[in-house]
Amino acid sequence: MRIKIVGTGSYVPERVVTNEDLAGMVDTSDEWIKSRTGICQRRISDGIGTSGMAAMAARRALANGGVRAEEIQLILLATSTPDCHFPSSACQVQREIGAVHAAAYDISAACSGFIFALNTAYSFIVSGFYNNVLVIGVDCLSKVVDWKDRSTCVLFGDGAGAVVVTVESEADKAVSGNKAGNSADVPGILHMIMGADGTKGHVLSCESRTVGNFLTGTEPLTGYLSMDGQEVFKFAVKKMPEIIEQLLEESNVKLEEIKYFVLHQANYRISESIAKRLKIPMERVPVNIEKYGNTSAGSVPILLDELNREGKLKDGDLLVMAGFGAGLTWGAALIRW
Ligand code: ACO
Repeated sequence: MRIKIVGTGSYVPERVVTNEDLAGMVDTSDEWIKSRTGICQRRISDGIGTSGMAAMAARRALANGGVRAEEIQLILLATSTPDCHFPSSACQVQREIGAVHAAAYDISAACSGFIFALNTAYSFIVSGFYNNVLVIGVDCLSKVVDWKDRSTCVLFGDGAGAVVVTVESEADKAVSGNKAGNSADVPGILHMIMGADGTKGHVLSCESRTVGNFLTGTEPLTGYLSMDGQEVFKFAVKKMPEIIEQLLEESNVKLEEIKYFVLHQANYRISESIAKRLKIPMERVPVNIEKYGNTSAGSVPILLDELNREGKLKDGDLLVMAGFGAGLTWGAALIRW
């Protein structure tokens, strides 16, 4: 069975916000931000919301894959920053792109969200329920960032990425029974890992509206993103190498066989440290954090789309995609392009 990513797309807002711009708003500097994170600028939405960015990325992925919106049977949208509590952002995208035959729902796993959604798509296809799934990772963190808090506001940006996942061979298309996944030598999604540790939820969090006091009439409050940066850093540089090694070991694939490690873009130093622990050169760990900052659920599919459009992904290439985020959560997928 070949479960393949056949199309990629992404969208980032036009508005560029540089480190210098932020230095005019909070007590920070281009030098501090660049040296601690690798970020030079980020894109911040001037008006387009989460579902609007997601729909743009989705249209581009459909066009790239030559798939019509009406052929999509399921939309899985990963985000922590939906425009509404309901309807879901996935339903809003379904309406915007005219995916009239698709079921649609959101997945919440913060920066690991895209990997979780991709793995869910894979499972639905393997189980024979769906043949064509649109997977989107999108966040508009500028909505929940406290623009007066220099320790967090310099890190994030807005953006969306999408992929179309489909069953390639006609023989595999069916709506029945369980089937084996891909074997390691055929193109497609080969293996996946997901995990969570809810006991560390406080390390990185953003409260929704608090409960108002029914008796006194106190208004509910809306929270900002808060983070223990050093704890997240330590978690990421330990957990990412661990799950990548586990993913490869369970797939009987060697580190040297992987062309690119497409990692969540949270901090250049985190990617560098993961590469060092795995003993792989940075040429195999593409980064774009300097342009976009941390776009949360958007970061992995945006990077994947860039690699695809730059012609850097050749048939048969092995890729690892991996992410980590609030929850805490982590996930990885092994793909033969
Ligand atoms: N500009 C200038 N100074 C700053 C800034 C800023 N923007 N932010 C913090 N500082 C100051 C602090 O106040 C502190 O000052 P002090 O020593 O006088 O108290 C000093 O810089 C050092 O602060 P630290 O927090 O120790 O800095 P650190 O080297 O740990 O870097 C950072 C902070 C960049 C956040 C780092 O911890 C990190 O990258 N952590 C990972 C965070 C991450 O990836 N978050 C993504 C969350 S979402 C997700 O993707 C999972």
